[in-house]
Amino acid sequence: MPHRTLILGLESSCDDTAAAVVLNGRHILSNIISSQNDLHRRFGGIVPEVASRRHLETINPIIDEVLAKGGVTFSELEGIAVSHGPGLVGSLLVGVSTAKALAYALDVPLIAVNHLEGHIYANFLTGASINFPVLCLVVSGGHTSLIHMRDHGELSVLGRTRDDAAGEVFDKVARALELGFPGGPAIEDLAQRGNNSAFTFPRALMGEDGKLDFSFSGLKTAVLNCIRRETEQGRPVKLEDLTAAFQDAVVDVLVEKTALAVRQHPVKQLLLAGGVAANSELRRRMRRRMDGEGVEVVIPPPQLCTDNGAMIGAAGYYNLRRGRVASPALNAVSNLGLEGV
Ligand code: KG4
Ligand code: ZN
Repeated sequence: MPHRTLILGLESSCDDTAAAVVLNGRHILSNIISSQNDLHRRFGGIVPEVASRRHLETINPIIDEVLAKGGVTFSELEGIAVSHGPGLVGSLLVGVSTAKALAYALDVPLIAVNHLEGHIYANFLTGASINFPVLCLVVSGGHTSLIHMRDHGELSVLGRTRDDAAGEVFDKVARALELGFPGGPAIEDLAQRGNNSAFTFPRALMGEDGKLDFSFSGLKTAVLNCIRRETEQGRPVKLEDLTAAFQDAVVDVLVEKTALAVRQHPVKQLLLAGGVAANSELRRRMRRRMDGEGVEVVIPPPQLCTDNGAMIGAAGYYNLRRGRVASPALNAVSNLGLEGV
């Protein structure tokens, strides 16, 4: 590998079109995210067909812009990394076909990155030194997983959600409260001013059986039922209190299960990743709890927790270093697993 390896990272798995130029897997030269939030807000969620059309319009201008901003030319790129799953297949295909065309035209490696693996690699862009083995908690709109990472490319999933993902529940509760999309930031904002003991919500699978899976659908149903009941009885729901109690329940579960995981699989570091890792209550409580366990917590800055191209560029660099180059026949895989990354 050259001393100075520049990778273009492309991300279009869901509703954000994103590109970044990353140096040696650790430094961001430029990073642009074009959010489709305004487009999907009026539907209260992502409309796949609308998302892929917007990706198509946006991806090429964003690539030009990210190179210009980073002061990089196409000919300096050593590889094109793209997330090829999991995600919405129509959205993923836009990134995958763009990456294939660029890699072919520039005659540089095409590097396939699993989107969840990408989220984990946002931690490599923090300047922290990462010492394997580590545990990772990936909490996003589509996933809630505890992962043991022995080395680059050696990941095993210890537990995952059996139903809704943590971010998905934030979005569904926000939708019921008409707070807009995505729901996480709006809920966090309200919850800061609320009383978390004004309502009591269930915490499921707290690890009594030693297992590391999650379940959030019972919590979701309890919160939605509570909103309906209060509304039917003509009592205005105090949004600050309800969101504080809900957020508290999610954070409790995530922190407790992670504490159980570090006891079962002793490590020195925990890497937090995914959009929900932007939540300041989760960041604060996880740090405090892991402090007590003697585990250092690494968390990307909030803008690198949610979807971005830099995390794909970082993961792409480490994949390339391991010789993992994708074939020109690379396809998008909507339900791609972490096995064999
Ligand atoms: O990782 P991400 O950008 O996309 C997926 O891969 O899903 O995560 C998006 C999710 C959404 O569900 C959003 O509501 C949630 O992350 N999220 C948050 C916060 N910021 C984003 N959840 C809680 N608190 C936040 N501050
Ligand atoms: Zn994501």
